Amino acid sequence: MADTAEMAETAELRVGDQTVQLPVITGSEGERAIDISRLRAETGCITLDPGYANTGSCQSAITFIDGEKGILRYRGIPIEELAEKSNFLEVSYLLMYGNLPNADQLDYFTNSINHHTMLHEDFRKFYASLPKDAHPMAACSAAVGALATFYPDSLDPRDEHEVEVSVHRLIAKFPTLASYAYKHSVGQPFMYPNNGFDYVGNFMWMMFGNPCEEYEVDEVVRKALDLLFILHADHEQNCSTSTTRLVGSSMVNLFGAISAGINSLWGPLHGGANQQVIDMLAAIRDEGMTGRQFVERAKSNDDTSRLMGFGHRVYKNFDPRARIIKKACFDVLNQLGVHSPLLEIAVELEEIALKDDYFVERKLYPNVDFYSGVIYNAIGTPSNMFTALFALGRLPGWIAQWIELHSDPDFRIGRPRQIYTGPTQNAWIPVEER
Ligand code: SDX
Repeated sequence: MADTAEMAETAELRVGDQTVQLPVITGSEGERAIDISRLRAETGCITLDPGYANTGSCQSAITFIDGEKGILRYRGIPIEELAEKSNFLEVSYLLMYGNLPNADQLDYFTNSINHHTMLHEDFRKFYASLPKDAHPMAACSAAVGALATFYPDSLDPRDEHEVEVSVHRLIAKFPTLASYAYKHSVGQPFMYPNNGFDYVGNFMWMMFGNPCEEYEVDEVVRKALDLLFILHADHEQNCSTSTTRLVGSSMVNLFGAISAGINSLWGPLHGGANQQVIDMLAAIRDEGMTGRQFVERAKSNDDTSRLMGFGHRVYKNFDPRARIIKKACFDVLNQLGVHSPLLEIAVELEEIALKDDYFVERKLYPNVDFYSGVIYNAIGTPSNMFTALFALGRLPGWIAQWIELHSDPDFRIGRPRQIYTGPTQNAWIPVEER
């Protein structure tokens, strides 16, 4: 656990005729929080904060976001630098272990991951029991949870060796699990991992390869996926990470906590938005709508449409990941020689929205999901796999946060309070009198 925040000043709170002093802590980037851990004991009050928009759940040394300045750093390193110079496995190590690996550490980590990619053969029966149209996120969350049944020898979250084994197994096997979900949905044979490929190339082989022909990893696609996985790798206390931490705080094993995180990410307001974006762009194309027509629908209270891929709880200026992905869209499609009408629609929507008062007043900008699906679509990924690719990228971040949770000196099971608003006094009434 990195140095804890400094406690330099106090906040004064007056409740009725009572005044209490509460400590104010300051993080390494100058963010301040009022420590309310003594609030109920001293005042009898709790706080209320729907959606936790003003509430910190922990102190963390993993990822820093400045939503006003569009800053994102993993362990202090700017996302732009990692996107340009690093690779996904190296970034995974950085997030989980807190530092860039030296050559020996990276070699050991890469080899260990490479040799844990296979799944127990009984997983074939697991997938065979699922309907053909099973959503890959349902399959992946169930399969990750099931890993706990196949590997009962490494479930103790406080045993360093068992944690290391589980972490390597999960990072190694998730691409296999995700590709199996896809292959099951298209009725194609599952592809065993080929450890002659690198991590991302192996995923491509298992997704797009088949037993009838040789497979050559397209370097343009491999690099694009590696970049997208880096950009999705962590994002401080977002919904799915907070879910992973809350579930993990019960001391359940890693697989159980991550399975919960996968389900949270699936939601259309969170990681499921990347699938919603491409469906939105395709609907605009297929219905012959103009970008302006759709933007007006997204603004209207009478219409449930939202401009999916726009808006963010933290970024109120721009999402640095969206900028990098938008540039990658053009680079990848040019290199692949792919013309994407969906990209043209996305660019038009962005141009309209960024000049429209509704979006400007609410500080709504493209987020990580707005352009990512255009690349996934251009490389032949079905839209129902987009969020599974988000999960693959986010996996090291969830794991890093889970590891940090268990090393936190303030570790406690998460158990929020509530303000009760139901009937104050009630009694049971016999059914004949109801
Ligand atoms: C991710 O937290 C993270 O870090 C998440 C993430 C990560 O890496 O883990 O960055 C990944 O989840 C990105 C977000 C993907 N979701 C979407 O793109 C779905 C569309 N966007 C939203 O639904 C919304 O913007 C959220 C969920 C992202 C943020 O929700 P908030 O902060 O609770 O904001 P809100 O819903 O209260 O919206 C504020 C206002 C509302 O209007 P008013 O009530 O003030 O009139 O903005 C409007 C909303 O109606 N609004 C939108 C909009 N997003 C918000 N209107 C139209 N289109 C949108 N996309």
